[in-house]
Amino acid sequence: MDLTGKRAIVTGAGQGIGKQIALKLAQRGADLIIDDINPQTAPQTAQEVQALGRKAIAIVADVSKKEEVDELVKTAVRELGGMDILVNNAGIARSSVLLRLKDKEWDEVLDVNLKGIFYCTKAVAPSMIKQRYGKIINISSIYGRTGAIGDANYAASKAGIVGFTKSVAKELARYTINVNAVMPGLVDTPLLRGIPEKYLQPMIEEIPLGRVGKPEDIANVVAFLASDDASYMTGAILEVTGGWNM
Ligand SMILES: NC(=O)c1ccc[n+]([C@@H]2O[C@H](COP(=O)([O-])OP(=O)(O)OC[C@H]3O[C@@H](n4cnc5c(N)ncnc54)[C@H](O)[C@@H]3O)[C@@H](O)[C@H]2O)c1
Repeated sequence: MDLTGKRAIVTGAGQGIGKQIALKLAQRGADLIIDDINPQTAPQTAQEVQALGRKAIAIVADVSKKEEVDELVKTAVRELGGMDILVNNAGIARSSVLLRLKDKEWDEVLDVNLKGIFYCTKAVAPSMIKQRYGKIINISSIYGRTGAIGDANYAASKAGIVGFTKSVAKELARYTINVNAVMPGLVDTPLLRGIPEKYLQPMIEEIPLGRVGKPEDIANVVAFLASDDASYMTGAILEVTGGWNM
């Protein structure tokens, strides 16, 4: 699972799962572009990556804005001399039951979680096609398969990632570009801490492995998919849930 000399972009890498993915890829030897919409957290992650002895550049870009994504990828490819790995991790939730779900909440979630992945993948693909090599890993959610009360917008976006991942995997396979997705279950991040305890506790009790995931649990699987150990995998959707909802 060696990533020495590889160049990677991780979106939403200022905190949570994205941050751990960036650190894990750096531990394995990759240089990083740390994207986040939050100008405070992106440089912090970049500093931690640099402390591991790898190159890291923090770039503040909103993945739902095409111009910002194009600029992000242009700078990334210029600064690192190409791009080998894209981890589409940035994601948001705006929870509300159907009858209270506002157009704005629907659009925001679909724009970041799904359109953002489209923009980032489309922007990075030309440099990967040129070098006939690339690894694209999309962060979906188990809710994309199971659905969830109060999360129709989020679940729809995460299910959309499955169709997108498989379609692009088929299109880019001829260029030796692997496109896979990970479906995390419950992972201990600020996103999860937004769920009220009375809803969270019963969910945790249903997890066969008996605990919520750590961001590292997801990062380990992403690092595998980013490596040549996973070179015969494409269009795969890996559930990393502790057995929850199997
Ligand atoms: N935590 C969980 O239980 C869980 C479960 C399943 C899937 N996921 C998915 O994992 C991914 C990471 O989630 P997390 O739990 O670390 O969330 P988080 O809220 O802790 O971190 C998300 C990061 O993305 C950034 N971000 C948000 N909108 C952005 C945008 N438009 N452009 C760029 N960056 C943006 C945020 O600033 C933040 O740093 C998301 O796609 C999420 O849907 C999380």
